[in-house]
Amino acid sequence: MSTTTTTTETPKSFTLTVHPSPNDPKGLPGQPTPKERGQGPFETYPYKDLLPKVFPQPGEIGSPLEDFEHVDPGHRALKHPNPNAFLEKATKITHLAPAIGTEVEGVNLAKLTNDERDQLALAVARRRVMIFRDQDDFFNAGGKFWQEFGSYYGRLHVHPTGGHPEGLPEIHMIYRDENTVYYDTENITRSLWHTDMSHERQPPGLTAFFLLAHPETGGDTFFASGVEALKRLSPDFVAYLRTLKQIQSGIDPIQYSRGGTRARNVRRDCITTVHPVVRRHPVTGEESLFINREMTKSIVGYKKQESDLILNFLYDHIAAGIDSQCRVKWAPKTVVLWDNRNTLHSALFDYAGSPERRHGARITPQAERPIPALDGLKLD
Ligand code: SIN
Repeated sequence: MSTTTTTTETPKSFTLTVHPSPNDPKGLPGQPTPKERGQGPFETYPYKDLLPKVFPQPGEIGSPLEDFEHVDPGHRALKHPNPNAFLEKATKITHLAPAIGTEVEGVNLAKLTNDERDQLALAVARRRVMIFRDQDDFFNAGGKFWQEFGSYYGRLHVHPTGGHPEGLPEIHMIYRDENTVYYDTENITRSLWHTDMSHERQPPGLTAFFLLAHPETGGDTFFASGVEALKRLSPDFVAYLRTLKQIQSGIDPIQYSRGGTRARNVRRDCITTVHPVVRRHPVTGEESLFINREMTKSIVGYKKQESDLILNFLYDHIAAGIDSQCRVKWAPKTVVLWDNRNTLHSALFDYAGSPERRHGARITPQAERPIPALDGLKLD
């Protein structure tokens, strides 16, 4: 009788130097250096002034946001003889997917005229997500310019729990590095499809986001088109969805901030809002699914199990519909614009464990109260 002996290597993780040491100035061949990606020792990090520093203080609780009239700049571009004229200087345009996402090189966002800013609003509404590379002027212009740029598109939102740099309350910052403690360990994935601040009575429209520092690999952002996701459903089901209203609330992020070792204060108390499940874009007229796992709590008038059944189906449909999605890979000096009225997105936290930092700024102008796709659907 013969015996076979097999030897097995003790499993260990294998890296292809995908996370170069923050102190290694070379980085990977053909890729931005760690310095260009905002890495290196914290003491010499150039964007320290833009760390989320100012957090809500005890007793700071402000009043709920007041309604305001929003006139979307994209309307003006509809009357333009060539609403894509602002792209004429582009050196390269790449559509990431038929339904969503366009990447542009050679257009300087910081130098757009108002007429071109209007065109940008329309283009983002139509393509859902636009990625502008090599925006040195936009980055160099700094916080006051970012506020001015954002306020062209609507009243700037101040995050109810987030931190902002000194003097820039409307610039919402995110920051993670090797010292970040992740609390949400119960979920299989930390990714979360959401729409920014969708529980507000007038949720954000065109939104700008850029990373001051990003890891060599990982930390991409995924986007899904709510318009395309809706189009995939059968007409009778869409007709039914148009009749539904949902309750949205910002309670989860608020409790997350108040709880655990974070124990932070909040700037405004949580509000509960009734939104349509399907909303119509004020400029393009397109209908979009407008639900998300972070803020949607239930379908108005339905028992919990009925509501969960419909919502979970729609969440899964959006998450699984990779033909309605695109993925943005970050590079230094990239600015990404998306329309929060017809998209969902999720950052990837696959870089957790990397010694590198991911530091970003979001400018989040609010837009109109969501317009129901079904005429006459009463929200109040
Ligand atoms: C966001 O969720 O608004 C930021 C997206 C990201 O971190 O990639």
